[in-house]
Amino acid sequence: HTIYLKDYSPSAYTIESVVLDVRIAPETTRVRAQLTIVPAANTPRGTPLILDGEDLRLEDIAVDGAPLVQLAYAADENGLTLVEPPNRRFVLETLVAIEPEANTRLMGLYRSNGVWCTQCEPEGFRRITYYLDRPDVLATFKVTMSADEELAPVLLANGNLIDKGSLGDGKHYAVWEDPFPKPSYLFALVAGDLASISDSFTTASGRKVDLAIYCEHGKQDQCHWAMDSLKRSMAWDEKRFDREYDLDVFNIVAVSDFNFGAMENKGLNIFNDKLVFARPETATDADYENIERVIAHEYFHNWTGNRITCRDWFQLCLKEGLTVYRDQEFTSDERSRAVKRISDVMKLRSAQFPEDGGPLAHPARPDNYREINNFYTPTVYDKGAEIVRMLATLLGEDGFKKGMDLYFERHDGEATTIEAFLACFAEANDTDLDQFKTWYEQAGTPRIEINEQFDADAHTYTLTLRQNTPPTPGQPDKAALVVPVRFGLLGPNGAEIGYERVTGAEARDDVIVLDKPEVEVVFHGVANRPVPSLLRGFSAPAILETGLSEQDRLFLARHDSDAFNRWQAIQDIGERLVVASVNGESVSDEATEALTQAMAETLAHETLDDAFKALALNLPDEAQIARAIGKSVDPSAIRASRQSLLKQVFGPLADRLEAKYEALTSEAPYTPDAAQSGRRDLRNRLLSLLATVSTKGPELAHRQYQAAKNMTDRFAALAAATLAWTEEAPSLLAEFRTTYAGDPLVFDKWLAVNARAPDDSVVSRLQAILSDPSFPKNNPNRMRALVGSFAMANPAQFTRPDGAGFRFVTGAVLDMDKRNPQVAARLLTGFRTWPMLEDSRQQAALAALHGLRDSGALSRNTNDILTRILDVA
Ligand code: ARG
Ligand code: ZN
Repeated sequence: HTIYLKDYSPSAYTIESVVLDVRIAPETTRVRAQLTIVPAANTPRGTPLILDGEDLRLEDIAVDGAPLVQLAYAADENGLTLVEPPNRRFVLETLVAIEPEANTRLMGLYRSNGVWCTQCEPEGFRRITYYLDRPDVLATFKVTMSADEELAPVLLANGNLIDKGSLGDGKHYAVWEDPFPKPSYLFALVAGDLASISDSFTTASGRKVDLAIYCEHGKQDQCHWAMDSLKRSMAWDEKRFDREYDLDVFNIVAVSDFNFGAMENKGLNIFNDKLVFARPETATDADYENIERVIAHEYFHNWTGNRITCRDWFQLCLKEGLTVYRDQEFTSDERSRAVKRISDVMKLRSAQFPEDGGPLAHPARPDNYREINNFYTPTVYDKGAEIVRMLATLLGEDGFKKGMDLYFERHDGEATTIEAFLACFAEANDTDLDQFKTWYEQAGTPRIEINEQFDADAHTYTLTLRQNTPPTPGQPDKAALVVPVRFGLLGPNGAEIGYERVTGAEARDDVIVLDKPEVEVVFHGVANRPVPSLLRGFSAPAILETGLSEQDRLFLARHDSDAFNRWQAIQDIGERLVVASVNGESVSDEATEALTQAMAETLAHETLDDAFKALALNLPDEAQIARAIGKSVDPSAIRASRQSLLKQVFGPLADRLEAKYEALTSEAPYTPDAAQSGRRDLRNRLLSLLATVSTKGPELAHRQYQAAKNMTDRFAALAAATLAWTEEAPSLLAEFRTTYAGDPLVFDKWLAVNARAPDDSVVSRLQAILSDPSFPKNNPNRMRALVGSFAMANPAQFTRPDGAGFRFVTGAVLDMDKRNPQVAARLLTGFRTWPMLEDSRQQAALAALHGLRDSGALSRNTNDILTRILDVA
């Protein structure tokens, strides 16, 4: 059934404190819970207390020490009801048995690689004990854990360790206490035979915090980058947001089976091990950056998520959007701001735009859901971060900081809402954000259309901006949003022009506020028509249609001081060429030559970053072209046109690409910093271009593969060969698999690159990999690498008109759904753009989806995605 935001009401009972005794043992773990429960002030006597519970076996139950009689409670598959609880503070004590080894959903307490660990967000705690498993019930926790000393020498939970000792009989125990009241989703415990590295951090006010990262034995040497990232995150949050850490310990544990990236449990973050382990021989530069980003993200949650949490799950973006914004800022400060912005926008466009423009579209703050696990989406996270970024753009750096300060001060210790968050910014800046709030409530990506007019006699330059958001499921009519459009007007020499004054709409410094369906801005005292640079830094998550000429775009590509728009201009030129060619329009030689020239200038530019060049020296990817075309999409035709344009545009530069490729060769020992990784980025981008456009490319890829001294270069060579499907690709793939046979995280890279191979046999190869009885089908990383990469990053083969690609994915989803519904549902979202395909592919997609629907009982997770995806039909 569906849960609605409008139905929110506070809990009739609250839980003040929790005392847990967790006796961990193979097969059956027993959890004794003592909950101190208080009825809310207005709760009528006799109101039943309904606790959540799932897959629990109740063995004992008592209230204030007295065993409960049969009629006083009822336990079913959803939980436990106390029919008539005391009308005062009381202690409910339950004893339940659970089976972590049988827990393949990886929610609640489960066992990964021998290690007992938990995942509770959003609704996993109910799989550990009966509880009010909702984020607005905050309690202090004291946890005693015990286990066999040999199986689990390490016993960890939230907060501070207050006691430990032996129990005799080979067993031991530890007691952890978390003084900060928290919702159950932030609960965690870990028990296992783990190695660790440790360090410490002293906060600005002088608190010494013990830091540790726990992992499988033998992997400690791969945890140092994560530790370094953690310390830099702690320092950054103090400097940028005045946020200090608040406990004496901060522990991180790396586990091998995890449903997503990582989890911000109070004082005990649990990570997917791919986001912890790094060494140059097996991790790429991208892995290093990802680890740094996610370590920061989870750490930053301590304030934005833990100290201030969400009232209900509709408010998820309150913590996620804000925390993504914070981790983006961290990376921007630690590395190149421009490069980070471009990468984030590429990610937004490739993950969030398709969601927002298809059957799974939903607001950043949804108003209803059937399965909350399906709302940990690019919209909630990444569009959520864009909304916070717009707030910062509209209020300015100081205004934004004032709002954040007030938010931290006013809501510390609370479970709150988007409204309360926005109120802090409104009050601190004495402004009104009522219309701005629409960004949280309205799904869909707005389109912004620009018209310009230059009046040579009046010396005025007029920009007309229009916005329009297309309908999304359940929201046919859209309101006007507050869109901050950052801009610059460039004069003939590329420098910004001045003007006397502005009339019409609001234009504060360099931001036009588009807050109606249409606004007009008139710049006075402008002698020559400037070239407008609009939506600089991608100041709003929108699709911009400028109507600029190729000449103007080339001008921006050459002169714009805004790095983002400089990159965008080059991409736009490429996009228009590929789209024209897919549509069968003739693409003139002059047009491709002009782009070749712009690429040559970018390559040779003296001051642009290597990493920037790596991003610019490319055509938009196939999915971006598909979005630009919008309907009746034929991904194979897109691929063919794009490949041939790559040859036309970059072919003439082959010698220069190769010379630069050679010049970038370096013997310096590996470091993961921005400068060195940028250099590798560019060199590997050139290799990938050469593999496609030059006859020498395949040989270069082969040579680099053999010569590589780190995983970045080796994997880039493998990817270049595979994606261009060179003659050597199959043998390199085989060699890579053998070389790294013992490393599951490298195996994922192999799976993912296999999944992206463009040849017509790819589906049968993937099917063979998946059907191998030794393939670890229960591991989320493996399944995402194989099936997820195929569905998300191999559009031409996934959407084959014979349906083989679609059926490969639905088959894997059906199988996975029996064990891990969350991961299965996520894999199925690969179908989220099917309505934009041309008819025969649509029919093939529908046949596969109907096959899945008709194949028996699906989980609520998968059924929810399937129903919404099919709803447009
Ligand atoms: N809160 C975690 C994070 O953003 C992720 C939790 C994801 N949960 C889920 N059910 N998908 O870091
Ligand atoms: Zn998060």
